[in-house]
Order: sequence, then structure tokens, then C-alpha cells
Amino acid sequence: MYVVIVLLVFILQLQPKIYLLLCFLFRKMVHLSFQKKTILAPMVRVGTLPMRLLALDYGADIVYTEELVDKKMLQCKRVVNDILHTVDFVSPTERIIFQTCEREHHHVVFQMGTSDAERALAVAKQIENDVAGIDINMGCPKEYSTKGGMGAALLSCPEKIETILSTLVRAISKPITCKIRILPTLEETINLVKRIEKTGVAAIAVHGRKKEERPQHPVHCDVIKAIAQAVSIPVISNGGSQEFIREFQDIHEFCNVTGTSSVMIARAAMWNPSVFRSTGVLPLENVMRDYIAYAVRYDNHYTNTKYCLCQMMRDHLESSLGKRLQAAQSTQEICEIFEMIAFFKKIRNEQETKKAELECAGLVNTMPVEGWSEEDQNIIQIPIRFDKREYSSQLTPKMLLLEWCRMEKLPQPVYQTVQRSTDKFFRSVLNVNEKQYGSTLWDKSKKLAEQSAAIVCLRTLGLPEGKISDIDLMQKRKRKLPLQIADKTYLPKEEQNKKCAEWPGNVTPQRDEKE
Ligand SMILES: Cc1cc2nc3c(=O)[nH]c(=O)nc-3n(C[C@H](O)[C@H](O)[C@H](O)COP(=O)(O)O)c2cc1C
Repeated sequence: MYVVIVLLVFILQLQPKIYLLLCFLFRKMVHLSFQKKTILAPMVRVGTLPMRLLALDYGADIVYTEELVDKKMLQCKRVVNDILHTVDFVSPTERIIFQTCEREHHHVVFQMGTSDAERALAVAKQIENDVAGIDINMGCPKEYSTKGGMGAALLSCPEKIETILSTLVRAISKPITCKIRILPTLEETINLVKRIEKTGVAAIAVHGRKKEERPQHPVHCDVIKAIAQAVSIPVISNGGSQEFIREFQDIHEFCNVTGTSSVMIARAAMWNPSVFRSTGVLPLENVMRDYIAYAVRYDNHYTNTKYCLCQMMRDHLESSLGKRLQAAQSTQEICEIFEMIAFFKKIRNEQETKKAELECAGLVNTMPVEGWSEEDQNIIQIPIRFDKREYSSQLTPKMLLLEWCRMEKLPQPVYQTVQRSTDKFFRSVLNVNEKQYGSTLWDKSKKLAEQSAAIVCLRTLGLPEGKISDIDLMQKRKRKLPLQIADKTYLPKEEQNKKCAEWPGNVTPQRDEKE
């Protein structure tokens, strides 16, 4: 194809405009096609990386992500995880909002919740190179989506639909699609899809129900068929789970009645993702183990893993296996329940080894350690962890710091703590005298994280940290807290001496600040 283009350009005497036009056409042509495809539908909480990879393994051609809201994505940082070999979009609270990997690169369509063309474009630019396509959700009737003007609320604003879609089509190199529900009348629906087609989208997915209809209502195959006849772009039929689709062979029948060549499956895939296997569904037990294997490999949060497994076990949640699954509190426990603990340990060991290798080479790039925000660069950080055995409960680093602030007539320290989604650990940054301090290490609780941050601050300022060993020493010598206990590398000698002179010998604060 490239040769043909080069020849054409040569023949046309290198007219730049023609050259660019051909490149543009070529670029769009090599992209994902939506003809004759079986597709994993977007599903909140279900459509995370393990489910998408599993659906691809079983035979899905394209996998849609769960709906991800533009505003949330805009707060995220893109982080390459060299241990898991993923690209993660991580929120300021260190939650992974969107995770993807090479295996799905040419198959994954990112579904966005948006009501604003500018925001949609900003998100599309952010993820453009990591996905195969971008979809706009126009079908979600849930209040959390519609109240922001997103999802099904867009269906009554055709101008807004046109602006969002045409903005994306113009500026984004990957195919743009949208997923709609049908409108109250066939005429309105056809008018809308024709307007959508004109924006240049690559395909339209149609959930054949009206926005007030629930999954138990019959799907309107005749309306999907009429849409497919009215437009020339691919129409992806959706809404057939249970009523039509229980296994792969049923997909053909749904395509027939809807007059489409592509189909998108949600619930049937959520219940058993092996619905995409052309040779028939697998027993759920095998499927669940395949799912867990991906969840372990990609360090999926255990609550999400549990949720997806519970959807698969839907009729058996009261069994002893189901009850144990519901009670599980970690990925390791889930693996124990499914007798996959040896696998869990093997993968975790491999990940630890890889991490150690990268650390040795100074190449660790897993989480945005400096990833709070742009301001994080200004945080004074030391790798310190508060060990409560080393401190008296009457004289903690936080108390000492508070006391020092009072003495200095400074506003009391303000602690800001975030929790990491992967292991639920905490990290705290405190603000004193317009400077920020925090440990680079993560702690098991908010209180511990705050104490660690307080130590960083005390040490940086060259102030005593209140360790029991230091207090004992002080009492033995019957003199003020020695400043040698502070790490002198953080403060010049003269300053340390000055601080020492100012420091009250027997600090006995009445109480810790409210925790
Ligand atoms: C758990 C769950 C989550 C869903 N989340 C989304 C979503 O994020 N975006 C969307 O467009 N539709 C969402 N849907 C709707 C499905 O994509 C699909 O349109 C609907 O379930 C009908 O298809 P089915 O008959 O194959 O289930 C969700 C459905 C389910 C069951």
C-alpha cells in the first residue's frame, strides 16, 4: 500500500495537499475495522484489563473498556509500569483508573463518559497512542451519568453529539465510535443516526432498548435492523444477552435478526467470558481460574477481581465456595480459595525479582512515586518509616512537631494523606511554614503515615524526634534533648545548635492533636 501511495504521489508531482490527503486516508484505513466483529461491550467494573484480556483469548475481536469519565481521566498521570508491562493512568490518590498493555493494543476501544467536546478531546489526546479506538457513551441511563449531561442525556442534545464526535474525528488519528440507545420513535432514531454518521465516526453501537427500558424488556431487533439499513457505516448490534445470546453459536442468529455483521456482548460475557469461544463455552470453574491468573499477573485490585468473579458465580454465591469468595480480603485469599496459591507465589516472586533488578539498575518506574501532583517536586522527602516500638506514646514525632510550631508561633502542621489502591497503604505529606515534608515509604495506616511525615520534618529541621532511646539518654545525662539524635546532614551545624538552644528540655505536651 505504501508503495502505491509513493508512486501516486510521484505521479502527481508531489502536490503536498494530495500527499497529505492520501496519508490521512491511509492512516484511517489501516485502523481497526468494525465489520464482522464480536465485541466485548463496555461494562463498568467488569471491563477492566483481566476481563478484556480473557475475552480476547477466548476469541473476541475488539474489547471496550468500562466507561471512564473525562474529568477523572484528566487528573491522571500516564505511568509506564516496567514490572507488569502495563501503561497505567493513575489518579492523584494513586488509584489506577485505566490500565492497558501491549496484548490489547490493537483491539481495545476506550469508552469515555463526557458532555463536553473540549474535555473529550483532551482525554482522547491523552490516551490516543495507547488504544485502538475511542467510543463516546451515549446510552447509559444511570443517574450518575445522565446528571452530568453524559450518557443517555446526550441523546436529547444532537448538536452536542455532533460537536463532540466531529471534534474527535477531526483531531484524533484513531477511529471514533459511539454507543447509543434507541429513541422513542423509529423516525427520531433514524434521524439521529444519520446525523451521527455525518460526523465521520467509524461505527455506531446500538443497544436496542429505549433509555427507560431495563434488561428484562425485549430488545428491539427491528429498530437495530432499520438503523443498519439507513446508514452505510457498520452498526454493532447490542442488547441480545440472555434473550438471544448464551453461547457463541447464538451470535449468528442475533446478527441475522438485527441485520448487522458485528455484535457487542455485555451480560453473557460477564457471566461467562468464554461465550466468545467458537468451539463452545468452557466450564465456569476453568474460566474463573483463567480470570484469576490475569488478575494476579496484572495486580488487579482484589475488590474488582472479587466483583467480577461474583458476577460469574451469580447463581452459586450461596455455595460454600461462593461464601468464601465473598469473604476474601486479598488476592492471595482468592487464590487460596481457588487452589492457585502456588501460582500466586510464583508470579509475586517473579514480580519482586523484576522489581529488585530494576531498582538495582536505578530503573524502577512502577508507580509515580513523585506522583501526587506537579507540586510533589517540592516535597522534601526521606525514606523513613515510623516504628511505634521506638517511641513513647506520650511523646510522638507529631506531638513534638506540634509543640515546636507553637513555640515558633507557626500555624499547626497540616497533614494530607492519600491511600494507594494496590495495597491500601498510606502516605502523608505535611505542611509546615510553607514547606512540605513526607516519607517516600508507604505505611499501613493513616496515623503511621502522618508520624513518618512528622519525622521527616523534624529531621530536616534538625529537631529531636523523640525516640525512647534518645529520651533515656537525655534523662541519664539530665540535660536537654541532645541534637545529635537528629541527622546532621539535613541542617548546618550552627542552625542545629541554634535550634537546640531554643528547644524546651522536658517537652511534655498534654495531648496529641486530634487524629
Ligand atoms: C455491569 C454492567 C455495566 C455496564 N456498564 C456500561 C458502560 O460502562 N458503558 C455502556 O455504554 N454500557 C454499559 N452497560 C450496558 C452494556 O454495555 C449493554 O449495552 C447492555 O448490557 C445490553 O447488552 P447485553 O444484552 O449484551 O447485556 C453495562 C451493563 C452491565 C451489565
